[in-house]
Amino acid sequence: MNTMTLDGTGLTEPANPQTLESETVDSQIKVRETVGAPFCDNAKLKMRNVNVFYSETQAIHNVSLDIGRNEVVAMIGPSGCGKSTFLRCLNRMNDTIEGCRVEGDLTLDDEPIYGPKVDVVPLRARVGMVFQKPNPFPKSIYENVAYGPKIHGIASRRAELDEIVENSLRRAGLWNEVKDRLDKPGTGLSGGQQQRLCIARAIAVSPEVILMDEPCSALDPIATARIEELIDELRKNYTIAIVTHSMQQAARVSQRTAYFHLGHLVEVNDTETVFTNPQHELTEAYITGRFG
Ligand SMILES: Nc1ncnc2c1ncn2[C@@H]1O[C@H](COP(=O)(O)OP(=O)(O)OP(=O)(O)O)[C@@H](O)[C@H]1O
Ligand SMILES: [Mg+2]
Repeated sequence: MNTMTLDGTGLTEPANPQTLESETVDSQIKVRETVGAPFCDNAKLKMRNVNVFYSETQAIHNVSLDIGRNEVVAMIGPSGCGKSTFLRCLNRMNDTIEGCRVEGDLTLDDEPIYGPKVDVVPLRARVGMVFQKPNPFPKSIYENVAYGPKIHGIASRRAELDEIVENSLRRAGLWNEVKDRLDKPGTGLSGGQQQRLCIARAIAVSPEVILMDEPCSALDPIATARIEELIDELRKNYTIAIVTHSMQQAARVSQRTAYFHLGHLVEVNDTETVFTNPQHELTEAYITGRFG
């Protein structure tokens, strides 16, 4: 197993290297275990031996990974490799997909995410999500952002809600475009504006973890830059996992990068290592554009 210690990052050698089944994931190359540093000190989320099935088809194979406090982990890999599936395990969004089964140990602050007593509503307030496609509620722009703080009891007075709505929209880089039409439907915004509205909605409840599935795929470069700044700012207080097809984005926003291939977690390393000196040949093939 290739391992490395990363000075100053709080990351240490994996204490418990995972072993993947000896399966062929490329015509020649086998993935037996995740290389690099999948584990870290100060983990907010710990995932161990995660397998995910859609009915009989296995989409995630024995993945183990930590995501640290105040850390941004980027998840990259070819289309269909399981990035969204894995991300959805972390706040039990896969529960909403018929036939989807998640196995393994997943914890948030060392509490089981899949425990029998876990109520998914507060879980999803703690672990918020921004989806690949913007999905505003069929409500006004204001209500889209105010809804979460209201139902989770974070704020009830109009003045408090106004402040949360404005602050969340500002941080998502949308305030100036919508401040004069807060009572208009969220669904009437452009695609990129809807996505920023969904980001504002996600941060309005001050989640501890934010899962972002290609949050910028519908955004122009200016809005993308604003969201990347926001991610960096949010990291001071939160934990973030972001799926992206943009390697430049992964390099700009994340501290560690996880490379997935056909449902296997091939490599996790500090982001610079992944992009400049990948340890696994599949990672190298992907980042140099040989497939994906
Ligand atoms: N709802 C579903 N029902 C059945 N199979 C699914 C479902 N969602 C995903 N899959 C399958 O699981 C595998 C992983 O899909 P997933 O959407 O997680 O990939 P991804 O890495 O996010 O891809 P992309 O980059 O295209 O978004 C694929 O083979 C896909 O066909
Ligand atoms: Mg996806």
